[in-house]
Amino acid sequence: MSAYIIRGGNYLNGEIRIGGAKNSVLPIMAASILNLSTTVLLDCPCISDVDISVEILRRLGCKVWRDGCRAEIDSSMINNFEIPLELMNKMRSSFIFLGAMLAVGGKAVCGYPGGCELGARPIDLHMKAFRKLGVHIKEHGGYISCDSSNFKACKVALDFPSVGATENIMLLACKQKGTTTIVNAAREPEINDLQDFLNLMGAKVSGAGSSKITIEGVASLSPAEKRIMPDRIVASTIMFAASTTGGNITLQNVNCSHLDSVILLLRDCGADIYTHSDSLDIICPRRLKSTDVLQTMPYPGFPTDAQSQAVAAFATMKGTSIVKETIFENRFNHASELKKMGANITIGDRLAVVRGVPRLTGAHVYSPDLRGGAALVIAALGAEGTSVVDNIHYVDRGYDKLENMFSELGGDIKREDLYE
Ligand code: UD1
Repeated sequence: MSAYIIRGGNYLNGEIRIGGAKNSVLPIMAASILNLSTTVLLDCPCISDVDISVEILRRLGCKVWRDGCRAEIDSSMINNFEIPLELMNKMRSSFIFLGAMLAVGGKAVCGYPGGCELGARPIDLHMKAFRKLGVHIKEHGGYISCDSSNFKACKVALDFPSVGATENIMLLACKQKGTTTIVNAAREPEINDLQDFLNLMGAKVSGAGSSKITIEGVASLSPAEKRIMPDRIVASTIMFAASTTGGNITLQNVNCSHLDSVILLLRDCGADIYTHSDSLDIICPRRLKSTDVLQTMPYPGFPTDAQSQAVAAFATMKGTSIVKETIFENRFNHASELKKMGANITIGDRLAVVRGVPRLTGAHVYSPDLRGGAALVIAALGAEGTSVVDNIHYVDRGYDKLENMFSELGGDIKREDLYE
């Protein structure tokens, strides 16, 4: 098990290129089975969630080759439509393979994705929509068996704009007869990236980015090559780190409009941010001032995936911030670790009150989850003294060698195997 050893206090300066987005590449890898042919992905990040998707694709009978940030998938030999429990448990978002497997095989079985560190994470919205579309679902012993031979295209309304449910329906419907419409669809930019990929293969999907997505079924799909969109959460993580340590950073390969809510927040806190066509500059003094209230919301609101990093940054800003988490019921586990470093945080029901202190101090802390781990790294980079950030296998799920990114920017961070 590895940990980061971080000596805090350095300003972060320099230029860094943002790679492909985890939340875009995972559904696109699931979608790659739809063309029964070849897919080439560029800017495919080297993160452990991608490794698990590769494992799933191979289990289904696909061939996968990786070379740095290039991945090639050949799904022409796909012969299995069952994902066992142990693979489902490794990554909750493996559930998006269900729609794709049904679209190709007509029948599919997968383990029930259990709860995770963020809370219960039910799948009722996926199941309700699938049933509405004529999919027969049987649940047995932790497994879900689905049969889509009686698929009937229609209009489905989501009770909440779930990202995963929107993607699962898009994958299920794009090779079926008729027109399927998703009402109250999620509007996250990663849904646009999935639509782009499906259309590159010859699908007829429109409306992504709005709350109504229309999918006209086509009989077959063709090979495609796709560059994955830049990761807006990795970009946000670096911006919150700069706001904690102070510094002057240029982020290359970003879509600034995807970062609007983060940019507006950090400008309110006193950061200077200049946006360009595919880059941005962020310049921060050593200590910013906090915002009043921050609430996570579905896109284009402030992303829940950047909430932990914002809390870490608020911990040392001047003033008090109230942070309300509206998406996940259990997403403040990083707070108790930040308190070990001297943060003054009170947690209520989906609420954190963060009273800024001038400086945190180094401590041995444990990543509670992916973004919580990134938050601890941010806090440690700004803290006085040395910190050990443990359990970084969580961080590796979604960051392609976070230590290299921060080292390049002047942070004193290294990975060590503590428990060999
Ligand atoms: C995706 C992202 C994740 C991000 C989240 C919210 C990927 C791989 N993951 O997760 O990083 O934090 O969007 O932006 O893209 N819900 C239900 N029933 C369902 C489905 C969801 O109640 O059937 C609830 C969830 O428990 C959660 C909320 O809806 O409280 C949002 O979930 P959803 O948008 O589905 O998130 P994911 O797709 O799992």
